[in-house]
Amino acid sequence: MPSSPLFTPLALGRYKLAHRVVMAPLTRMRAGVGNVPNVLAPDYYSQRATPGGLIIAEATQVTPYGQGYPSTPGIHSAEQVAGWKKVTDAVHARGGTIFLQLWHVGRASHSSFQPGGVLPVAPSAIAITSQKSFTPEWKQVLYETPRALELNEIPGIIDAYRQGARNAFAAGFDGVEVHAANGYLLEQFLHSSSNTRTDSYGGSVENRARLLLEVTQAVTEIGGKDRVGVRLSPFNVYGDVGDDDPIALYSYVLTRLTEIDVAYAHMIVGREGPGFDGESPPEIDALHPFWHKPLILAGGFNGETAEETVKSGRADAIAFGRYFIANPDLPHRLKISAPLNPYDRKTFYGGGAAGYTDYPALEAKPPAHRRDAITHNNTNLFLLESSL
Ligand SMILES: Cc1cc2nc3c(=O)[nH]c(=O)nc-3n(C[C@H](O)[C@H](O)[C@H](O)COP(=O)(O)O)c2cc1C
Repeated sequence: MPSSPLFTPLALGRYKLAHRVVMAPLTRMRAGVGNVPNVLAPDYYSQRATPGGLIIAEATQVTPYGQGYPSTPGIHSAEQVAGWKKVTDAVHARGGTIFLQLWHVGRASHSSFQPGGVLPVAPSAIAITSQKSFTPEWKQVLYETPRALELNEIPGIIDAYRQGARNAFAAGFDGVEVHAANGYLLEQFLHSSSNTRTDSYGGSVENRARLLLEVTQAVTEIGGKDRVGVRLSPFNVYGDVGDDDPIALYSYVLTRLTEIDVAYAHMIVGREGPGFDGESPPEIDALHPFWHKPLILAGGFNGETAEETVKSGRADAIAFGRYFIANPDLPHRLKISAPLNPYDRKTFYGGGAAGYTDYPALEAKPPAHRRDAITHNNTNLFLLESSL
């Protein structure tokens, strides 16, 4: 069998990956008290670790103000750092590399998550109207109109990311990924539809990109630019974002990220948000001339399309989301073209071991049913898939 381009090494920042099948960041809403990764998280991640493989751990709030969903983990308390350390130790024990995705949801929150019950913050006081928010009790309610950040509050936001990166490295992560995709705070600043500011953080492409670039620069100063990546979703419209000229915006962003010299860019190719099943917009190719470092693409790939995409040079690695949830041994299965376990949307968010640590690897018997360690509401939350 000719060797697949997915299974050739890739230099990514300071790391040498053994293959190009990346685990995409995947929110699972199973964190415990204090938004600490739960007791099953080390198992979940280590099941998916491979020698020289890259895992990007789920979006993790850098500040309590950055939370927008129940039971998502944080990286702003000592308990959270200790919880994540167990995860990174377990992944490292299997020879894997693991980055943490740094998250602030901005307006995609609700006052019930905010310390003191204040309004969530955003670039501009524009509410999300096409989706609903969660509360910490897993109720779905209308999004509120957020409060526009004052200019003098911006350094505090950058500090939160800086501290998140510091904590991530203290927790043993090999790197961090700045989450600038999927309708959250940094993308709210980037896109013209959610940012109507008239100060130096709004208006022109340069101004709208400023916060992302300042956050990225700050984070590189914590652990080194060779272990920072940035996730972008140029054509995303979920979370009521959307830009009137994505090529102009993202060609500028990629040019500036090249100057900052981050380890990789990670782009979601779908127009309709994460977890989509549609066609990738052809415009993504228009951005290629602006990025010459490792490029990870994600969104709707299977083994065949991943292989073709890497072979054609359109990406250096492919991140898999849903298939990695359902196939702990995904790289092995892709390597030998084995069939994939189907994923079960009902267990994507919330709950315990079911749909988390009990998907079988090839040639392994499914583990005996394990009583869930966590007992919060495991309602059918598949609709949320579109918003993360
Ligand atoms: C359950 C679930 C949770 C997700 N959580 C995140 C997340 O925390 N951060 C993020 O950037 N994208 C998130 N996404 C998007 C995925 O990383 C990925 O881009 C998307 O699922 C498309 O890839 P796929 O077709 O291989 O699933 C999530 C998607 C799903 C299905």
